Amino acid sequence: MSSRILIIDYGSQYTQLIARRVREARVYSEIHPPTRTVDWVRQWKPTGIILSGGPCSVYGENVPTASPGLLDVAPILGVCYGMQLIAHLEGGAVERAGRREYGRADVEVLEESGVFAGFRAEQPVGAWMSHGDHVERPPRGYVVTAKSTNTPVAGMRHETKPIHAVQFHPEVAHTPRGGEIIANFLFEICKAEPSWTPGAFIEDEIRKIRTLVGDKRVICGLSGGVDSSVAAALVHRAIGDQLTCVFVDTGLLRMGEREQVERTFRAHLGVKLVTIDAAKRFLDALAGIEDPEKKRRAIGHTFIDVFEDATAQHAEGAAFLVQGTLYPDVIESASPTGGPSVTIKTHHNVGGLRPDMKFKLIEPLRELFKDEVRNVGRELALPEEMVGRHPFPGPGLAIRVLSDVSEDKLAVLRKADAIYLEEIRAAGLYDDIWQAFAVLLPVRSVGVMGDERTYDNVVALRAVTSVDGMTADWFPFPHDVMAVISNRIINEVDGVNRVVYDVSSKPPATIEWE
Ligand code: XMP
Repeated sequence: MSSRILIIDYGSQYTQLIARRVREARVYSEIHPPTRTVDWVRQWKPTGIILSGGPCSVYGENVPTASPGLLDVAPILGVCYGMQLIAHLEGGAVERAGRREYGRADVEVLEESGVFAGFRAEQPVGAWMSHGDHVERPPRGYVVTAKSTNTPVAGMRHETKPIHAVQFHPEVAHTPRGGEIIANFLFEICKAEPSWTPGAFIEDEIRKIRTLVGDKRVICGLSGGVDSSVAAALVHRAIGDQLTCVFVDTGLLRMGEREQVERTFRAHLGVKLVTIDAAKRFLDALAGIEDPEKKRRAIGHTFIDVFEDATAQHAEGAAFLVQGTLYPDVIESASPTGGPSVTIKTHHNVGGLRPDMKFKLIEPLRELFKDEVRNVGRELALPEEMVGRHPFPGPGLAIRVLSDVSEDKLAVLRKADAIYLEEIRAAGLYDDIWQAFAVLLPVRSVGVMGDERTYDNVVALRAVTSVDGMTADWFPFPHDVMAVISNRIINEVDGVNRVVYDVSSKPPATIEWE
């Protein structure tokens, strides 16, 4: 049997990142809640077990814990709360927090082996700390493997058993060598085999989807974005024609988007695809609305109505609905596995369902991050133009027209946006940018065209770099590229006489203007 790592979720916002690092090391993992019994864990046959961080104190009431027997099932890596738990269970001294330690710290490695194999004692390593309590004294039978200024035990291990722990978070990007620590645990200590791939993920998901669906019909709303496209392609690979995809043309799409979706899915993948032309319904619902939240609601409601009509007409009796939900979209207060982790970002997809809808959800990408989804898409042979696309918000261009939405304004914005993206591609910069788009401002300004005074629209351009959309920096365009973009937009788009570039980072600004 291939290697598998069990991650026990004690509620850290970073638990999914641990799973991600393990996948990056090509080892299969699953996240489970702390309520799994030792017998259950034994039967699961983990190659190794990682105890995640979490917001609790081991001294709190009703806090998640572990049975001491767990530490003998397989090699253990405790992270943050996971380490405090090990210390607590094994009789070490966990010091209650005087104050939280939060942020970067320099950790001094005391042992150049185990999880620190390949590290040098005299070279402190950057580490991300986020904890209240800390281990003051390791339990009997344990040795200290790392320390920092504020944390006497930044790492520890058992003298003879394969139990290792670190106080900091090796899974986050702010711990630059964290990936090595996790890889050391996987390969040096657990002797895991690096055999997991996106291909293996696809095979697993196909099996699960087939078992779940049986001979029932399934429906999927395609938005044209990466996530729903990859989810649809994956489900199609599993059940073929039992899947019907519905693509709603909201009239709020970018130039050429509908044609691209139809080409990819109908022609290229042979998916049963229904396109619903609902532009008029959306524009009617949006008429006169300026407030972005009200726009979102109007779009959300219209979307559900249109989608329900389409389902009744084209996929009568469908029992399942595919959604391209990714991990960063998941906000429910329970973690995907029923463990206690809480995500922080609010989810704003328009495809939200009515509570009374009778579909069961299939969300095969629910535990992945965007770049992992892109790799799955590539493995499924989706074309690069689809897989590598910038994210696009569900409410589409409606939240990029910063006033009430009309067909004329959409036409202006769509044209400016298309030129912008075309030039970014021509300059070879598309893949360096997380997301680039134009915004039509509710502002007009004076200009001059030939001998004529003009009084026309201002278009703002936004381009950001980001890892996950949670934080972002504005993209430093070369001047010559900006010059071409601005000239072309002003010359080619009627009604625009001024172009400005947005130099705000997130936070405090957001990516979209709305
Ligand atoms: P913000 O503007 O919050 O955006 O910094 C972060 C990411 O989310 C996208 N976004 C949305 N996506 N529905 C979506 O599906 C929405 O209502 C929505 N609002 C923002 C945004 O494009 C960026 O990628």
